[in-house]
Amino acid sequence: MNASNLKPVLVIGGSGIVGRRAVKALRELHPELALRIGGRDVGKAAALARELGRAEAVRIDLERDDLGLAPDAAFSAVVVLLKDDTLRSMKYAQAHGLPYVSFSDFVFDIGPEVALHIQKPTAAPVLFLGHFLGGTVAMSTLQFARELKKVHSILIGAVFDEEDVGGPAASGDMERLTKGVPSPLIRKDGKFLWATTEEDTTRTFQGVDGTQWKGRAYPLLDVATLAAVTDASTVRLDFAVRAASSRPAGQGPGHEVIIELIGELPDGTTTHVRHTLVDGDVHSGLSGRGVALAVERLLGLVGGAPVAPGLYSPEGVLDPAHVVERLKAWGTRIQRA
Ligand SMILES: NC(=O)c1ccc[n+]([C@@H]2O[C@H](COP(=O)([O-])OP(=O)(O)OC[C@H]3O[C@@H](n4cnc5c(N)ncnc54)[C@H](OP(=O)(O)O)[C@@H]3O)[C@@H](O)[C@H]2O)c1
Repeated sequence: MNASNLKPVLVIGGSGIVGRRAVKALRELHPELALRIGGRDVGKAAALARELGRAEAVRIDLERDDLGLAPDAAFSAVVVLLKDDTLRSMKYAQAHGLPYVSFSDFVFDIGPEVALHIQKPTAAPVLFLGHFLGGTVAMSTLQFARELKKVHSILIGAVFDEEDVGGPAASGDMERLTKGVPSPLIRKDGKFLWATTEEDTTRTFQGVDGTQWKGRAYPLLDVATLAAVTDASTVRLDFAVRAASSRPAGQGPGHEVIIELIGELPDGTTTHVRHTLVDGDVHSGLSGRGVALAVERLLGLVGGAPVAPGLYSPEGVLDPAHVVERLKAWGTRIQRA
């Protein structure tokens, strides 16, 4: 597949904090790929489009079934980097047989999309990518788990800078989370649990520099995905926030992810391995790169033919080794401790 032969990729929310990182990563990977940056403020999208090249802005109206697009508009994929609670963007992708990327769903959010897919299972490839950092952490975890014959436990801890916040759409999602369904999903002793007690919702973990962090579990899709793939009986994902004042002078807000695995090696011995991902960039950088890797794969620009209609999670389309290699090449420091 050649990027220059493809219709443009429609990135709704492409002018947002994550969106601009996603389209820039896609542009870097595929200079020939045409892009359409969709949003309500077409001036903002147009400025970004000029910066990117081979891109144009389009006004999106999620109150309309045609999304406010011209009848002859044609795309190769629909990527939605905001919570579209109408799901009109997904219906549009299904009606046109286009790959669809859903990026803003918590683990308790996916029911309506699953139902829509069940109605039209052969209409389009639908990818859930609401996973932590655009699926890059789940994919890295699966790569690290490859040395194990059996995985018993997956504990993921992440440390964010307090100033590393997203745009208004991300704040809206956080508000939805705190007002709506606050219980995070964990897997504990082989059971899926919507955690409510302090003991279940929090975990202390050791950061990259040895700092002890108290993290709080978070209802992202990663727990469900990693449990499904590995059948580990313990799976959880906890976030801690670092005060900006504790950042070394002159350093911007970065983040770190610690992935701890307990499992069996091929020789039958039990082992505990710890991997760390350290990224000096704000979290929207890695999240956007995750989007770019997913889109290029869905379109068949890497890793094989375009992805066929179906309902997918990142591991169903992406190669974990490829994702880890790309992250390293982009500058994320990945180490086995
Ligand atoms: N899965 C992950 O790894 C991950 C990571 C980070 C963030 N997220 C999610 O990604 C989303 C974007 O976060 P962000 O920080 O980039 O937010 P943001 O800066 O507010 O970006 C939102 C984008 O969507 C557009 N938009 C908002 N409402 C719209 C509407 N009704 N119709 C059409 N376009 C609309 C905005 O442009 P206009 O204002 O011009 O409309 C903007 O381009 C959030 O849902 C966040 O929770 C997911």
